[in-house]
Amino acid sequence: MTEPRFTGAVFDLDGVIADTARFHFLAWQRLALEEGFDIPHEVDDRVKGVDRMASLRIVLEYADRQYSAPEQEALAARKNGYYVDLIASLTPADMLPGAGEVLRTLRAAGIPIGLASASKNALPVLKALGVLDEFDFVVDAATVTNGKPDPEIFLKAAVGIGIAPANCVGFEDAPAGVTSIRQAGMYAIGIGNAELLREADEVFPTLADVSLARYFKL
Ligand code: BG6
Ligand code: MG
Repeated sequence: MTEPRFTGAVFDLDGVIADTARFHFLAWQRLALEEGFDIPHEVDDRVKGVDRMASLRIVLEYADRQYSAPEQEALAARKNGYYVDLIASLTPADMLPGAGEVLRTLRAAGIPIGLASASKNALPVLKALGVLDEFDFVVDAATVTNGKPDPEIFLKAAVGIGIAPANCVGFEDAPAGVTSIRQAGMYAIGIGNAELLREADEVFPTLADVSLARYFKL
């Protein structure tokens, strides 16, 4: 992959652009401790890219008792309250390394940029980071029927930015998200742990390590 042949870019938010994956974990951990159980650190990776109710089901695997459907709704709402409290203090300093530079460079090159986030909090997070205007089209959890690993969210983002999926690069920190990108027919760049993201076409530790000129005509 040496020719700059892509003309669109679609980014995941939590763990790619925003340093917020740790806040999701902290909020789940607070909920679990209040309910009288603890969650191991691997839950951090397991809930990445996974929507709120499905993440709750993962967390409840570690609980000592069963929760009814209404109780699960209440738990998810409580976790979201804790998460919203944690992101209330977000500022542009909470962008992950390289994220601001990558968005600015693509924009300057006229490459359409989409967001494909499993989070219903995507818009407030983008606003708090001061980067909402960098995106030409935003797809969040509220507007999709099937969450990651289904390709729907990345396909909708491609339609939104007006670029065929085959001409887009998708950026993800979650295994479920990488599957979604691949199923959508995009080139998948994993951000983070290479072992965890082995399904991706390529993996880099952060966005700062990605040489954009290899993929896009700048
Ligand atoms: C994803 C996170 O971006 O959003 C998941 O990686 C999270 O960990 C999911 O569960 C849903 O977020 P929210 O804000 O809608 O509860
Ligand atoms: Mg993510």
